[in-house]
Amino acid sequence: MNSTRVKRRTVLRLGVAAAATAGLATGCATLTGERAGKHLASDLELPEPFQVRLPTPRRAEPVSPGRFEVTQRVADVEIIPGTTTRVWGYDGMFPGPTFDVRRGEPITVTIHNDLPAPTSTHLHGGVTPADSDGYPTDLIVPTGLDFQPGLHSHMEVKEWRLHDGSREYEYPLDQPAATLWYHDHRMDFTAPQVWRGLAGMFLIRDDDEDRLDLPRGEYELPLLLCDRAFEADGSFKYPSIDDSLLGEPGVLDEYHQGVEGDVILVNGAPWPQTSVANTLYRLRFVNASNARRFELSMDDLILTQIGSDSGLLPEPQEMATVTIAPAERFDVLVDFSRVPIGSQVVLRNRLGADGTDVVMRFNVDREADSGATVPTRLVEPVTVSPDDEVAARTFRFALTHVDGHEMWTINGRPFDPDASLASPRLDTVERWTFTSDFHHPVHVHMAHFQVLTRNGKPPAPEDAGWKDTVDLRPYEVVEVAIKFSGHRGRYMIHCHNLEHEDMAMMANFDVV
Ligand code: C2O
Ligand code: CU
Ligand code: CU
Repeated sequence: MNSTRVKRRTVLRLGVAAAATAGLATGCATLTGERAGKHLASDLELPEPFQVRLPTPRRAEPVSPGRFEVTQRVADVEIIPGTTTRVWGYDGMFPGPTFDVRRGEPITVTIHNDLPAPTSTHLHGGVTPADSDGYPTDLIVPTGLDFQPGLHSHMEVKEWRLHDGSREYEYPLDQPAATLWYHDHRMDFTAPQVWRGLAGMFLIRDDDEDRLDLPRGEYELPLLLCDRAFEADGSFKYPSIDDSLLGEPGVLDEYHQGVEGDVILVNGAPWPQTSVANTLYRLRFVNASNARRFELSMDDLILTQIGSDSGLLPEPQEMATVTIAPAERFDVLVDFSRVPIGSQVVLRNRLGADGTDVVMRFNVDREADSGATVPTRLVEPVTVSPDDEVAARTFRFALTHVDGHEMWTINGRPFDPDASLASPRLDTVERWTFTSDFHHPVHVHMAHFQVLTRNGKPPAPEDAGWKDTVDLRPYEVVEVAIKFSGHRGRYMIHCHNLEHEDMAMMANFDVV
C-alpha cells in the first residue's frame, strides 16, 4: 500500500479506533465471546414485546413485464408505537418491497434516488454482471446534490461512476431458487445507510422448488431480522448518524467493533407477534443487522433447515437452534401442529440479553392445513471435488497496523478500489481460506461456495449448502471451495459487519 495516499481523515477516525482496540487487546471479553458488536442503548422508552403485528412488506410489482422501478426516499413511519421514525427506504419503506421473481426470467430495476445522499444498490447473493452489482463507487447521486466524491474515501479513488438521479440495474436471475436480499453499498457509508432503512428481501423461485410440497402463500413467511437503537424523539440512533449525509463519515470511536441496537425488529416491527395455524410453515430468515449475530430457537420446536444463502439443500437437516450471522439466510420449516392450539411459541435469540434475547412470537390460534410436507430430498446435490480446484488463496481478516494506525484489513491491506487481490478464471473452482481475529462474517459477491472445513474439522451444521456468506468467529479458519460461474469482471470480497466494511475491510477480485 502506498501510504502517502492515505488521507488525513483516516488518521482521525482510526486513531480513535486504535486507542479503543488497545483496551480490547488487554482482555475484553467480547474479543472471544459471542458478541460481535458494541451495545448501543436507546434513549426512548421501549415497548413491551409482542404489542405489534408482524408486517409483511408489500411485493414489488413490475411496471411492465420484467421492468421494475423503485424510488429511494425519506419517509416518516411508525416503528415504535406512538412515535415516528424518519427512514430512508426503497419506495419509502423499511424493509423495502419484497421482490418475488423467477429463475430464467431476467429483470431490470431502475432505482431513483430522492434521498439527500448518494447510494449504490447491491443484490446480495445475486449472480449479477459487474456493472449492475452495486460497486461502492458506482453511485446514484440525487439530482442537484453538490456531491464531491474526492472527499469521501479513506483512500483517494481515481474513478467514480456517478449517475444523475437514477440508474438501471440488470438482474439475469440465472441461478437457483433462493432467499436473497438487497441493500445499500455506498463507499464508506453502507453501515449508516442500511441502518436508516435501505434493505429489502428478494426471493427467487424455480421449477425444482415448485415440484416440492413446501408451504406456500400465507404459510411462507419471509422474515428480515435486524436491530436498531432509537433517540428519545423516535429517530434512529447511530454513533455517527448526524454527519453521515455528505461530509466525512462520522467517527465511530468505540463502536468500530460494530453497532448493536437494543431493539429487535422483524420486517421493521419491534418484537412483533403473528397468528399462525397448527400446520407446517416455511420461515425464510435474513439477518440484515449491521453487526448482530442471532442464535435462533423456537421453544421446543425443531427448525428443519431446507435452504442456505444460495438455494435449497440436497436434504433437510433438523436443528435445535440456528446461528445466523449478518447477511446469512436460513430457510427453515417449522411444524406448529406439534403444539396445542392456544400455544404461544417465542422465537428467541440465545446470544441476546435484556430484551435482545427475544425476537418475536407466534400465536398458534387456529386449525388449518398448509398441505405441505417436509420433503426427504430437496435438490440434486452438486458437490465440488478437490480435483476441481485450480488455485488456493488465503484471505486474512484482521485488525492491522497500517502506518501506525489500526485498521480492519484483508491480508493487511485496507480497501483500495484500484487494487485486486485475486484473478480467478471464469468457470473454475478455487480453494479459499479465510482467517479471522474477531467476528467477521465473510461475504463474496457473485461467486457461491461450499464450506470444506472449519478449524480443520468438518463444517458446522450452519455451513451446509451453497453459501455467499460464512460466519467466522474470533481466531477461526474456514476453507471453502468457491466456484466462479456467471460473469467476468470486478467483484468484491468483504466483511459483512457493516462497520468493518466501511472501515476498509473490503477488497476486489477480478473474474477473468
Ligand atoms: Cu450484502 Cu457486498 O454485500
Ligand atoms: Cu453481496
Ligand atoms: Cu469484520
